[in-house]
Amino acid sequence: MITAKLLQLMVEHSNDGIVVAEQEGNDSILIYVNPAFERLTGYYADDILYQDCRFLQGENHDQEALASIRDAIREGRPCRQVLRNYRKDGSLFWNELSISPVYNEADQLTYYIGIQRDVTAQVCAEEKVRELEAEVARLRRQLGQDER
Ligand SMILES: Cc1cc2nc3c(=O)[nH]c(=O)nc-3n(C[C@H](O)[C@H](O)[C@H](O)COP(=O)(O)O)c2cc1C
Repeated sequence: MITAKLLQLMVEHSNDGIVVAEQEGNDSILIYVNPAFERLTGYYADDILYQDCRFLQGENHDQEALASIRDAIREGRPCRQVLRNYRKDGSLFWNELSISPVYNEADQLTYYIGIQRDVTAQVCAEEKVRELEAEVARLRRQLGQDER
């Protein structure tokens, strides 16, 4: 039988960031962050609790994925998007963010749970593949011209 203590232990030992936020006006303010979130972002819970997670975007607030996140939060439905985020030391990481609304027994939206996964290696590999594909296409075109 799973207990609240055991559940807490699971969340604290997760390899991915797990946060809990509640809505306050236009902000989703953090009320819990697990140790993996602290390791991923370099921010300690005490530095960032009661703030909205958008501070992780630095100056980069015009990302397309943010419109989907805003819509999902407004409509109280889950979403998953990849965001450009920055650690406390300023270094960039790609954050696959999954947000789920949590409803209580009276069907009221009470909290949001957010799971942050570092997908930097994947995003960089995809970028590299695109670059190489463009290079191959360029070389093919060049070969075609040379044969004429
Ligand atoms: C539970 C939860 C976790 C979030 N985690 C992140 C995050 O890790 N990084 C991030 O850039 N935004 C995160 N956000 C999204 C921002 O809080 C905010 O909703 C987003 O920037 C869109 O709103 P804005 O355009 O008003 O900033 C999270 C939101 C929620 C509800």
